[in-house]
Amino acid sequence: MKKTVLVTGGAGYIGSHTAVELVGAGYGVVIADNLSNSDAGAVEGVRRITGVEVPFERIDCNDGAAMNALFTRHAVDAVIHFAAFKAVGESVAEPLKYYSNNVGSFVTLLGSMRTAGVENVVFSSSATVYGQPGTLPATERTPRQPATSPYGATKQICEDILRDAVSACNGLHGIALRYFNPIGAHPSALIGELPRGVPANLVPFITQTAAGIRGELSIFGDDYPTPDGTALRDYIDVVDLARAHVVAVERMLYGAQREPYEVFNIGTGRPVSVMELVKGFERANGVKVPCRVVGRRPGDVEAVWADTTLAATILGWRSDRPLDETLRTAWAWQLSLKD
Ligand code: UFG
Repeated sequence: MKKTVLVTGGAGYIGSHTAVELVGAGYGVVIADNLSNSDAGAVEGVRRITGVEVPFERIDCNDGAAMNALFTRHAVDAVIHFAAFKAVGESVAEPLKYYSNNVGSFVTLLGSMRTAGVENVVFSSSATVYGQPGTLPATERTPRQPATSPYGATKQICEDILRDAVSACNGLHGIALRYFNPIGAHPSALIGELPRGVPANLVPFITQTAAGIRGELSIFGDDYPTPDGTALRDYIDVVDLARAHVVAVERMLYGAQREPYEVFNIGTGRPVSVMELVKGFERANGVKVPCRVVGRRPGDVEAVWADTTLAATILGWRSDRPLDETLRTAWAWQLSLKD
């Protein structure tokens, strides 16, 4: 029988793309989202792309009673937990909001899963746990650095909560996926990233600048010890990233998981500079992105990219969309928002 996956935060950027890939792989999907930082239009997008009336539950994962009730309405085999706040700067200004929402909701979810007897969970972690690694690329064994923001701290704490819950609870399986920098959109341009207000992340700022919504892109620093002086990141296509979740769930549900708690880097393994990304976007889309170099952004690391060997050998997953194609999907999504 077809297995069912609950996707919390499924109306968000990565969650909606993952819901599409899960349906495509034959899973039943239930989306839960409180729409606090997302739009019901994303659920519609998932339904249009897949042709499946994916059930949507407007629920806050912090609400234990509502989560328990959800698990009685749907026979869930695995959960992918995306629901969380993700703005680094905001987390510094409002730490309690981040600890309560990101950590609180995960604890509540794990409690409701235990009550319902659901034993498989994938957690959305982040390369932010590595800070500035001493050696690059970062492997899963690269030591985590003390978090530089409450947001980053919530990712580390939730990884630890999952590890401890798995070790205490026979039968529970957990996988933490450490995402590098997710970018791009579904090729249909029906779902994508929907930043609220001024985007903090590079690619949404680039697309809005190219569209004339922003006057110019600020490049935060060109004096890093990197080949062109701008910072290096590992930009991973959001559909490739979504596929990694399908593979992780498959591994859990079909008994291939060797250790009950596992961690995987999800990136491309290729460092790309801010300047390369801007030029690549202009080339891929035939548009100009006015930009100006300004000072470094506080809290930024100079370079981080993934060693993806573990995901390739254990999960059999690797990213395969070329960067220029990903940058075309980002632009197509931006253009679709004008309609
Ligand atoms: N950048 C600019 N101008 C901008 C925005 C970003 O030059 O307007 C630069 C940044 O300084 C950085 C690079 O583009 O060098 C990427 O910046 P993003 O904000 O897109 O991404 P980060 O690497 O800072 O952060 C991302 C996620 C975080 C996560 C972090 C580490 O957004 O959630 O990776 O995993 F914590």
